[in-house]
Amino acid sequence: MRVVVAASARSAARVAADLVEEFITASPSPALGLATGETMEAPYAELVRRHREQGLSFAGARVYLLDEYVGLGRLDRRAYRNVVDRQLVRHVDLAPGAVHGPDPHAADLDTECARYEREVRDANIGLQLLGIGANGHIAFNEPGEPLDSTTRVVTLSRRTRADNARFFPHGRSPAQAITQGIATISAAARLVLLACGAHKAPAVARAVEGPVTAEVPASAIQLHPDVTVVLDPGASSRLTERVADP
Ligand code: GLP
Repeated sequence: MRVVVAASARSAARVAADLVEEFITASPSPALGLATGETMEAPYAELVRRHREQGLSFAGARVYLLDEYVGLGRLDRRAYRNVVDRQLVRHVDLAPGAVHGPDPHAADLDTECARYEREVRDANIGLQLLGIGANGHIAFNEPGEPLDSTTRVVTLSRRTRADNARFFPHGRSPAQAITQGIATISAAARLVLLACGAHKAPAVARAVEGPVTAEVPASAIQLHPDVTVVLDPGASSRLTERVADP
């Protein structure tokens, strides 16, 4: 595992964007795994800037969402497909049909989860971006879920619902989501986990330096052969070892 502590959240976002840029320019048809969350806004904005100002092209790429809320309307701004569309997709030259995600409106969600699991496995994701929840979740794999999980419907923890309530000021945040499992995520060739802010420091320390345990789903990244963890100083502040310069 490589741990990069950047000088600021801004520079951490640039490091993550560098890794995505290297990846999508190295292959004619890259399969990129996208995460959603506030942390991803800055790297996506940086990729959009590079597309506009430096000609970075996504033309051959396919992108795959990690997870999606269940219970929101198709046009709801908070639906992850719409968030990713607003922050990245509509501003770059991804081909029509290049964005893939689980459909939370499917008649049978278990069948849909199985379909998306196959789609992601067949895609052979080359680089998977990840954030981390303050409780150590990745995607929507909450503490206590098995480390060999695959794509499925999950019930969100109270902590995650409370954390995400800021996006739902006029109502309750969704209680359920479809998420790629830990095994699905771990099948990607490379994982890049980005975390910023001191509120993420305890989860980052447990994920990077603690025991691998279902209680900290992000700790599963320790078992992956190619992981880069990109942090700002706040998110790295509880690490005691394994810190590298950018
Ligand atoms: C949600 C997403 C995760 C993300 C996490 C952290 O729960 N499902 O993929 O890592 O939020 O989000 P933020 O970056 O907003 O802190």
